[in-house]
Amino acid sequence: MTITRSAVRRDPGYLGLTRSIAALPASDYFDAAQYARELTQIWYRNWLYVCRSSELREARAFRTFTVGNQSILLVRGEDHVARAFHNTCRHRGAALCQATEGRLPPAGIVCPYHAWRYSLRGDLLQTTSKQPADDFDPKDHSLYGLPVTEWNGCLLVSLAQQPPAFEKGFDLPISRLDAWRMDTLTVGHRSRKTIACNWKVFWENYNECLHCPGVHPRLAQLVPIFGRAILEPKDDPSWQDHATDQDPRYTGGLRDGATSWTMDGNPVGVPFPDLTADDHKSGHIYLTGLPSIFVVGHMDYMRIVRILPLGPELTEMSIEFLFLPETLAQRRDISGAVEFTQIVMGEDAQICEVNQRGLHALPHERGVLMPEEYVIQQFQDWVRAELARP
Ligand code: FES
Ligand SMILES: [Fe+2]
Repeated sequence: MTITRSAVRRDPGYLGLTRSIAALPASDYFDAAQYARELTQIWYRNWLYVCRSSELREARAFRTFTVGNQSILLVRGEDHVARAFHNTCRHRGAALCQATEGRLPPAGIVCPYHAWRYSLRGDLLQTTSKQPADDFDPKDHSLYGLPVTEWNGCLLVSLAQQPPAFEKGFDLPISRLDAWRMDTLTVGHRSRKTIACNWKVFWENYNECLHCPGVHPRLAQLVPIFGRAILEPKDDPSWQDHATDQDPRYTGGLRDGATSWTMDGNPVGVPFPDLTADDHKSGHIYLTGLPSIFVVGHMDYMRIVRILPLGPELTEMSIEFLFLPETLAQRRDISGAVEFTQIVMGEDAQICEVNQRGLHALPHERGVLMPEEYVIQQFQDWVRAELARP
């Protein structure tokens, strides 16, 4: 678009920025010390999504999960409660479980170094010393426990002893997803991808649609308002011109004739029975839980996307596709949903890498946020506030 200085008009309720906002310093996206600060202040303090509860279904099932230099051990107890610990022995600090997943022996958690043995609750049951010192009390040497939450069939952990209230980590009330009954859904497909970008680059791209017309031609057709480079009707400063227009270019939602986010716009799965007419009309709902998860609900499938930083310029994205059990039992062809997502998320991954590569230019101290990027401003304010937390 050419830049013209026409008379300023911004209708009431306009959501966009009205001032240029300086973005975060470019070096924050590749500097190793900054990355370490963000691990400590953000990733080690908030709730992190690990996996579906169904992946830790059986008693004694375990999983390890690594973020930064921290390894977390998740265990399903004999009482079926999921518990999390630092994956570290209290003797001299050896890593307890080396595998990423598996089943513990009936004996419990046994350290591979000197065979200290712990219960699934983390209590030290046995050492291998002939006679422990007089003042040695096993109670002082339980595993380092960590908070765990099971929400809608999702397991989340935190490396903070007192993390913020779990629900507060989401941008909408979590009850907004109740109609999808996520805990009853089954994973029909999984994918994982590493992206050569800083984790914040991923989230910033997620938070704007200014890139949609150029980067996502197929998505921009399916969701016509995205083709206008905006997410919501009120992202347009003159939105009142089309306030009563029912064209999805102006209302949001799917193109005429489409009902789901799939290759041909038709559902691939059995529709969720409890969605409202509005849920159907909008075609999608996004729930975001920084820094590690977003969940998307469509009328016949859901996606859980997990983000994990692997390094200052490397991020992992894992996607789980969730369906009603009957969709999978009926062996429906879900490829139209998977393929559509792979195209769109692949485009995002690629453009994030393009963004990352350009950030190193010597004179580029920082970028600027444009009006449509107001959610990025909120994200960057959140990052700054997290970094400033005592
Ligand atoms: S470090 Fe675990 S038993 Fe020695
Ligand atoms: Fe995108």
